[in-house]
Amino acid sequence: MNNPFREDLVSKNKPDPCSVVIFGATGDLAHRKLVPALYNLTVDGELPSGVKIVGFARRDKSDDTFKDGLEKLNKEVSRSGHDEYVWDRFSQNIVYHRSNFDDIEGYRSLAKRLDEIDAERGGKGNRLFYLSIAPEYFDDVLEKLNEVGLNEAAEGCWARVIVEKPFGKDHASAEHLNEVVNNTFHEKDTYRIDHYLGKETAQNIMVLRFANSIFEPIWNSGHIDHVEISCAEHFGMEGGRGGYYDSAGALRDMVQNHLLQLLSLVAMEPPTDLSPDGVRDEKVKVIRSLRKLDTPEKVRKNVVRAQYTKGFVNGNEVPGYREEDRVNPESETETFVAVKTYVDTWRWSGVPFYIRVGKRLPKKATEISIHFKATPSVLFNQQGSDKAEENVLVIRIQPDEGISLRINSKLPGAAIRMESVKMNFQYSTSFGKSSPEAYERLLLDSMAGDATLFARRDEVEEAWKFVDFIQEAWKGQHDIPLAEYEAGSWGPNEADDLIEAEGQDWRRF
Ligand code: BG6
Repeated sequence: MNNPFREDLVSKNKPDPCSVVIFGATGDLAHRKLVPALYNLTVDGELPSGVKIVGFARRDKSDDTFKDGLEKLNKEVSRSGHDEYVWDRFSQNIVYHRSNFDDIEGYRSLAKRLDEIDAERGGKGNRLFYLSIAPEYFDDVLEKLNEVGLNEAAEGCWARVIVEKPFGKDHASAEHLNEVVNNTFHEKDTYRIDHYLGKETAQNIMVLRFANSIFEPIWNSGHIDHVEISCAEHFGMEGGRGGYYDSAGALRDMVQNHLLQLLSLVAMEPPTDLSPDGVRDEKVKVIRSLRKLDTPEKVRKNVVRAQYTKGFVNGNEVPGYREEDRVNPESETETFVAVKTYVDTWRWSGVPFYIRVGKRLPKKATEISIHFKATPSVLFNQQGSDKAEENVLVIRIQPDEGISLRINSKLPGAAIRMESVKMNFQYSTSFGKSSPEAYERLLLDSMAGDATLFARRDEVEEAWKFVDFIQEAWKGQHDIPLAEYEAGSWGPNEADDLIEAEGQDWRRF
């Protein structure tokens, strides 16, 4: 490979040529993320030749009108820009297949079409089915795929399914969805996507922890005071998202999946190997070890939920959540959550983990900060002397991906004066280019049969069990308040109280 940076992107196995069938191909995800990801893989020469994209959706469209829509969005969002010549070559491999999700004829003609594509390609019939559709259509699509036999691969080939979130709305519905999916595809061929796992910096957590000998000996309750995982977003319900979001809320939309996945990477034990199950076995143990908030009282004490009111973000006036498009004007949905929890293992005994996520905060940024214990009050931390700040290791997931370490340093001069300074590593300067989009890596991995960065069934279900206790307490008549925060602020005062109770502050970034 010419470009060493991209070597990182290629999974352990080589991706195979295949047909990628996107259900819900006229939707936002396909236009904004999936097709641009495939396009950018083409630009970088990473997409195996012979990949054909079949857009499956209900709207009446020709191949050309479908491709025009995709091209328009690609021009707007593509990471590497839009090159007409590359797009023309790339788009020759895109076709549109109109059908209702419950129409068996649509699947028969799909099977025929895929056979023709395989014949053109010279025989190999690998198929990747991407369910970019609302979960209520899963049954229809999977049942019909089963009926026409598209879930079974020809000799020497594979048939896999990628399932998008939301993966259920609670433990029971997730279990049901898992049943439905696993009735059609084997678990080994089921890829539950959590795009945070495809982010370069999320993948780097394991490398940071297990490829550097300095961190592992101090990665425990003996040295770490607390861990914070924060995900801030400045936007609200633009682009019609209110409809979905109002029925989900921050807890289900982000905590159950992205944030618990990040937490499990921070807290996991070293896996015995880097195989998909080796890694996921350790991650699921973390989620299972989360201290359950199994009474309304525990939820009231350890979780803050809040909703934004109108305010200013980046100098622009924005409406309150209840005034947003497609949101119930009396909605009780939370747009902000802060959770204090513990991982009840020997390694993490007594170390609080704080999770915070919110819409309409001052900026978009996701980071994990590991706060180390203070040095003892001898030498420098005595009364009257400068205070040695605690060391903080910050893993910046996005933007400005990188890692920094806050250390204390002597100020130049005769006296012993101290100041806290930052050692900083940035992907963009160290590697000379920005990181690939998460979907690029994940699509490539699924074509290569590498499920390491996909959530396994038990991980998803365990995460729901943790979240369900909180949902139940909120739903019951337990008088757990929904706090308010002004759009453009860092969230409600109650979230500050949660962390300040332990003598800490949220990191401002
Ligand atoms: C999605 C959530 O899964 O992740 C959205 O549904 C959220 O509400 C998005 O905005 C954040 O993803 P990213 O990659 O932009 O941080």
